[in-house]
Amino acid sequence: MAFDWQLYEDFSWKIYSGLAAVVCLCVYAFRRWNAPTFYRGTASLTGKTVIVTGSNTGIGYESALNFARRGGRVILACRNRAKGEEAAAKIRQLTGNEQVVFRLLDNACQKSVREFAKVILREEARLDILVHNAGVSRCHSNEKTESGYDLQFGINHLNPFLLTQLLLPLLRKTAPSRVLVVSSVAHKMVQRLCYLNTKQAWEETIAYSTCKLCNILFAAELARRLKGTGVTAYSLHPGMVDTRILHPRSSRFHGRLLLLFCRNVLRPFCISLEASVQTTLYCALDPSVTQHSGRYFADCRLAKESKLARDEKIASQLWDLSCKLTGTENY
Ligand SMILES: NC(=O)c1ccc[n+]([C@@H]2O[C@H](COP(=O)([O-])OP(=O)(O)OC[C@H]3O[C@@H](n4cnc5c(N)ncnc54)[C@H](OP(=O)(O)O)[C@@H]3O)[C@@H](O)[C@H]2O)c1
Repeated sequence: MAFDWQLYEDFSWKIYSGLAAVVCLCVYAFRRWNAPTFYRGTASLTGKTVIVTGSNTGIGYESALNFARRGGRVILACRNRAKGEEAAAKIRQLTGNEQVVFRLLDNACQKSVREFAKVILREEARLDILVHNAGVSRCHSNEKTESGYDLQFGINHLNPFLLTQLLLPLLRKTAPSRVLVVSSVAHKMVQRLCYLNTKQAWEETIAYSTCKLCNILFAAELARRLKGTGVTAYSLHPGMVDTRILHPRSSRFHGRLLLLFCRNVLRPFCISLEASVQTTLYCALDPSVTQHSGRYFADCRLAKESKLARDEKIASQLWDLSCKLTGTENY
């Protein structure tokens, strides 16, 4: 009996359209279920100073824009002068807030972090909110900071640690003040912290998650060590956003392919840039948050971090190591 192509084509067309409808419905249901919470607090930042690192683009730019709208003095700490100046000018134009300025900070370089801190301590009378937002992912395992550490570890954890230590006198003087570390739910992918021995080559895919785990451990330990000083610390997951950090960068072909695939599959599940800064605003501004210093937040509420991220012994070891690697005082 001859195969009836007509019948097959009619049937497969129905299957494909049925499948497409199911996928659309699932995405729609997921977006409804996962709809981000918007922070409704109206606190003004007039007379207060905020630093946001990596704020020329993405989540950092949107955070700086929101802080500027609330009247704060906002310092955009970025590694590229042209991009930083341009972002600051754009925010000044959009908000009419003339207190939005750019200062040079390259988180891949300890010397730059020290220079930046010197400028801030010399020029600023106060620091109310410090947001460690700058971040990179999927660097090649042979990319290093100028001090020879894994580039992701340097940019995402070690130099934010150093910057906090250097700015602590100003944060203490301004207290109550807050330190926010933008982490990620990706920290949950790490089962064992095996990279703290630093100058070795880090495995590319797990390096980012490890750094994001360090962010949570750091905020928790900072909060413990600063208890009673009025300086509080928080880590947070901003949500999944289609920013440049999700763009293919890896030099490895399979890495690029995997990322392209993930990016296109994940895109419908991403939240907007505006939604992604709500937890940052909540942690920076909400009065109720201070009773939870050291905790991890997502979607404008307390969130559950991984078991490893709650381990106080590991947090303390990471602290000691970070002091040693940055040559800062251990207190
Ligand atoms: N997007 C997401 O879905 C997502 C999810 C969870 C957590 N996060 C976290 O959110 C934060 C912001 O990421 P994003 O999505 O907004 O990424 P992004 O658009 O790539 O922005 C990253 C920012 O960090 C800056 N940066 C990179 N290296 C730096 C360095 N050495 N010194 C100073 N600044 C540097 C970048 O500056 P240049 O423009 O000069 O490169 C840029 O301003 C990161 O910490 C990331 O881990 C993002």
